[in-house]
Amino acid sequence: ISLKPYNTFGIDVKAKHFASIQTIEELKSLYSNNNYPKKFLIGGGSNMLLTQDIDALVIHLNLQGIQILKKEDNFVYINVKAGQNWHDFVLWTLDNNYGGLENMSLIPGNVGTAPIQNIGAYGVELKDVFYSCEVLNLENLKIETLTNKACNFGYRNSIFKNEAKGKYIILSVTFKLTVNNHTLNTNYGAITSQLEAMQVKDPTIKDVSNAVIAIRKSKLPDPKQIGNSGSFFKNPIISIHQFKDLEKNFPNLPHYVISDTEIKIPAGWLIEKAGFKGKTFDNYGVHKQQALVLINYGGATGQQILELSKLIQKTIYRIFNISIEAEVNIF
Ligand code: EPU
Repeated sequence: ISLKPYNTFGIDVKAKHFASIQTIEELKSLYSNNNYPKKFLIGGGSNMLLTQDIDALVIHLNLQGIQILKKEDNFVYINVKAGQNWHDFVLWTLDNNYGGLENMSLIPGNVGTAPIQNIGAYGVELKDVFYSCEVLNLENLKIETLTNKACNFGYRNSIFKNEAKGKYIILSVTFKLTVNNHTLNTNYGAITSQLEAMQVKDPTIKDVSNAVIAIRKSKLPDPKQIGNSGSFFKNPIISIHQFKDLEKNFPNLPHYVISDTEIKIPAGWLIEKAGFKGKTFDNYGVHKQQALVLINYGGATGQQILELSKLIQKTIYRIFNISIEAEVNIF
């Protein structure tokens, strides 16, 4: 079957075998029989670039459900199954006046894949609201619980991309959200100006969410309309020495200080400076409003987009001596 409906880039590659599972039992039974030795998991398909047909059993993880585990005076613990759509869940929390996810409104994908790359936006990351997750350990098919600390979250990074790669399937995530006394995170410049434009003085979590939605809609293409995977690259982290050197040639170089020795540079700026912003090749290219996003206008192959990403990497390296790394997973 074609995987086109299952990846937000809209790449038309085929899966040799395909199963969409709704229960943990189904998942376990697929892993305990050896009919299909090669397996490939797919969740929301929002952070992957497929460059060839998948010669494996593709398992679409479609576990659904939201459950309130515990309510305290100020916090609520909510368990959400992996296949739940992220933004639908964010809207559900806002309807219930639970705070913490508003800055991460409208991020594509599912709850179960959010921890893998520690999704984040506008000053908040998943790790700030993540309490624990349930995983299926593929070595023994036992269910385990991993705490926030155990997941070793970093910028677009976690244990699931490193030492635990391929070891677990995330079945559900438990969030710790605020019930009242919400802590608003409105320091991000774009949010401040959006709230001003909306003439909101004393914002609620719903207002912050609406501001984020407005900003994202203005910059980021809707994957339902135009194939894309959000930021294609990570923002590179360079040494302060390299930054000082670069600043001599590029005095307006935007940057965020990470520590005494490290500086993060927006890859979107580098790509724009290198002349790629808005560039279109046949039916794929670089987004006009945000250079960090690569786009499939329809019918492009994963290989073409991969080649474009390599050309961008090479050019950035040549001009700035900075390596930018893909944020999406390439298969
Ligand atoms: N910029 C440009 N040209 C561009 C794009 C960006 O010059 O075409 C520069 C501007 O200086 C701008 C700065 O980059 O001020 C930052 O841009 P923006 O606020 O749009 O954020 P970003 O660094 O490009 C990151 C995340 C996004 C997240 C936003 C907002 C990564 C890889 N990306 O992008 O996440 O929504 O911050 O918090 O960290 C995603 O991961 O898929 C994603 C969209």
